[in-house]
Amino acid sequence: MNASRHIATLTKTFLSLSLIVGIAACSAPEETPLVDDTAAIYNTTLTNQELMALIIEPASDILWDSGGWVLDASGYEELYPTTDAGWAYVRAQAAIVVEAGNMLALPGRAEDSDAWMIYSQGLSDAGLRAMNAAAAQDEEEFFQAGAQLYSVCSACHQAYNPDIVSRFAESD
Ligand code: HEC
Repeated sequence: MNASRHIATLTKTFLSLSLIVGIAACSAPEETPLVDDTAAIYNTTLTNQELMALIIEPASDILWDSGGWVLDASGYEELYPTTDAGWAYVRAQAAIVVEAGNMLALPGRAEDSDAWMIYSQGLSDAGLRAMNAAAAQDEEEFFQAGAQLYSVCSACHQAYNPDIVSRFAESD
């Protein structure tokens, strides 16, 4: 490539770049929110009860069953995953918990735009912590993430469905 063509190419690249930047700059002030709730269509056929029973509890149970130790007849059994595949599996369950926080926050599911949202975000936060711990295969951190998750579930149930708290405790 000779020098002048090279410069021409550079100029063209620069021009298209400035065009893109220009367009971005022009459209910035309008900044329509990415999610326009009036136009968005969410399928919220599943009730919160179904979300809990079919998605959130099964995924969380796998996390809790994969953290710590249990004492049984044969002594202490370590529950943490012992293989890369095992950790990858629990990391995937944690990802479900992360997204479950968003599912609960959808219009049509959220019971208010206040504490409910904070608990929903808390669910996602605990899920992310568990995901990171699983990625790092960090047993102690994974255990703590499980404890954090449990406290979010309990706090939300306490606030929105006190009946469930006792049922929850019994099933443990
Ligand atoms: C944002 C609030 C909130 C969070 C966070 C939350 N729950 Fe719930 N949960 C509810 C509500 C509300 C109900 C009652 C739903 C109904 O029966 O209408 C419920 C019900 C349940 C039920 C009973 C479902 C059934 O079959 O009746 C289970 C099990 C459950 N939750 C598990 C969990 C677990 C496990 C977590 C944490 C990993 C969790 N929930 C986090 C609000 C929450």
